[in-house]
Amino acid sequence: MAIKDIQQEILKLKKENDICILAHCYQTPEILEVADFVGDSFALAVEAAKVENKTVIMCGVRFMAETVKILSPDKKVILSNAAAGCPMAEQMDREIIQQVKEQYPDYTVVAYVNTTSELKTVCDVCVTSSSALKICRQIDNDKILFIPDQNLGAWIAKQLPEKEFKLLHGCCPTHAKMTAEDVRKAKAAHPNALFLVHPECREEVVEQADYVGSTTGIMNFAKQSDAKEFIIGTENAIVTHLQNECPNKRFYPLSIDLLCHNMKATTLGDVLACCRGIGGEVIELDEEIRLGAKRCIDKMIEMG
Ligand code: 13P
Ligand code: SF4
Repeated sequence: MAIKDIQQEILKLKKENDICILAHCYQTPEILEVADFVGDSFALAVEAAKVENKTVIMCGVRFMAETVKILSPDKKVILSNAAAGCPMAEQMDREIIQQVKEQYPDYTVVAYVNTTSELKTVCDVCVTSSSALKICRQIDNDKILFIPDQNLGAWIAKQLPEKEFKLLHGCCPTHAKMTAEDVRKAKAAHPNALFLVHPECREEVVEQADYVGSTTGIMNFAKQSDAKEFIIGTENAIVTHLQNECPNKRFYPLSIDLLCHNMKATTLGDVLACCRGIGGEVIELDEEIRLGAKRCIDKMIEMG
């Protein structure tokens, strides 16, 4: 089948079966074209709480599908490709964090939303890259234990010097691969380009940026800017989307290695299989875990 025929079939099945497709902006253009909503992690969580369809297909990674199920337990929630996890979300488990909490009993535990539902049950509030600063600033405690992303945590800590942050050794393997040397090479190749970066990158990369923000933040900045050239320091899907949307500007990847294989796992064929009821993974969560995790996500939406 040609791409446009698969897309037509997906659009038809969506209508017939009351399906909503949510897609993270790291997905491919052909998937974004059939999605009902595209956004960063925060926007997807907000949307997940509002969806009215019977079935939701999440084109992204597992924690995003779990967030939908946490907020909409009566819906059938399908992760588009069962192999699409988030390596960062799997770096820390509930038992480790419970032990760390015993060492720091007076700290508020802030969990990046890229965590398992189980882990969220022992945290106080979730954040995403676009809401972390706003939420951490509002927290009524000057001691914050920020997990699991040490790079995002360090970037927030720098902007809130009045608070004390404890960070653990977690990171996104895709973004943390980037180094100051990658920035040097990209800037040498494109000396007139602005450098836009995701805060999951290391400090040595982030400190050289003209703009730091979430995936949506980076896209909005590039679209609104008068500049004509940009080096993009986040997953390379964003380079593709921006180049498609702004053909009169030029977008360059910080590195051709900035690829998240988990985000790339979903194909248009997977989405079609989900619509036909023969693909993906239907998300099921233990009710106690769902309610424990919901507390943190509700707080994130309320504060963010
Ligand atoms: P945002 O879309 O919230 O910027 O997150 C990026 C990411 O790595 C999601 O897994
Ligand atoms: Fe996880 Fe990083 Fe991939 Fe996002 S880009 S899903 S944080 S591994």
